[in-house]
Amino acid sequence: MRKTIQSFRPQVSIVTGAASGIGRAIAAELVARGSLVVIADLDGTAAQTAARELGPSAVAATVDVADAEAVRSLVDGVVAEHGRLDVMVNNAGVAIGGLLEELDERHWAKAIDVNLRGVINGVTAAYPHLRAQGSGHILNTASLAGLIPAPAMLPYTTTKHAVVGLSTALRAEAASQGVKVSVLCPGFVDTPLLDEVYAAPASFAGGSVRSRVRLMQPKFLTPELTAKRAVDGLAANKAVIPVGFLAHLSWRALRYVPPLARAAIQLQATGHRRLNERASRRVGQV
Ligand SMILES: NC(=O)c1ccc[n+]([C@@H]2O[C@H](COP(=O)([O-])OP(=O)(O)OC[C@H]3O[C@@H](n4cnc5c(N)ncnc54)[C@H](O)[C@@H]3O)[C@@H](O)[C@H]2O)c1
Repeated sequence: MRKTIQSFRPQVSIVTGAASGIGRAIAAELVARGSLVVIADLDGTAAQTAARELGPSAVAATVDVADAEAVRSLVDGVVAEHGRLDVMVNNAGVAIGGLLEELDERHWAKAIDVNLRGVINGVTAAYPHLRAQGSGHILNTASLAGLIPAPAMLPYTTTKHAVVGLSTALRAEAASQGVKVSVLCPGFVDTPLLDEVYAAPASFAGGSVRSRVRLMQPKFLTPELTAKRAVDGLAANKAVIPVGFLAHLSWRALRYVPPLARAAIQLQATGHRRLNERASRRVGQV
């Protein structure tokens, strides 16, 4: 296994959402393995900074993953310039939180456009090239919330479950074409995403979920450890790559002791409702 992991040496990779957090750390791991890496992000300035910091094997590109044409043009351009694509990491994502009654169409649209359509766009742009090569690996970033139901973040957990379904089904379809597909499912990782809940309802004062998720996972994972597990998972061609104790425990519990897992999820939902109602009362919304 260790030999397989060490011999994983992609030449050309694209990572979306790579200007920050998990994506940036995955890009760094791929650079360390000798790959040229395209740091693709909506925030072009941050992508350039990340590329500069990662050295001459990293190049920046500005792209909105929700824009199918833009993603296709990026992927086609990389293949035209470098003659191949070995790893496509569809990682860009946004956090959405709140009880269903606190959310509106904006929250659903944002989650679907970025977290789901963004991954579909990356997959459909890269897959024809990988099939034509007869090789390559697609890694989609879902979440622990893609493996188990996550109350008080319905648009997020809905889209992340869809990403797990897309990835595991495509893995079966793509195997005969020489193309590998894996899905990354970390627990909570210390990145800016935890402080940037999109259009946060009043119950998430300041838009940060840090204090709340600490109740479930007292110690956050680092982006670096998450990225190392992700790239080792690619090298070992794992279907699903859970990262962290909470992710491993919850996923196994749901499969092997479902009543216990469901009771824990119910407790979580009740806890979120209490916290949301208390916070909303504090800001005078109820
Ligand atoms: N942080 C966590 O606890 C955690 C846990 C599990 C899964 N994830 C997932 O990991 C992925 C990366 O998140 P992160 O924690 O590193 O967050 P992050 O905020 O540090 O990075 C996300 C990056 O995606 C970019 N981005 C956002 N919308 C985009 C778009 N439309 N097009 C292109 N780029 C866009 C942002 O500019 C940012 O650079 C996401 O899919 C997230 O859902 C995060």
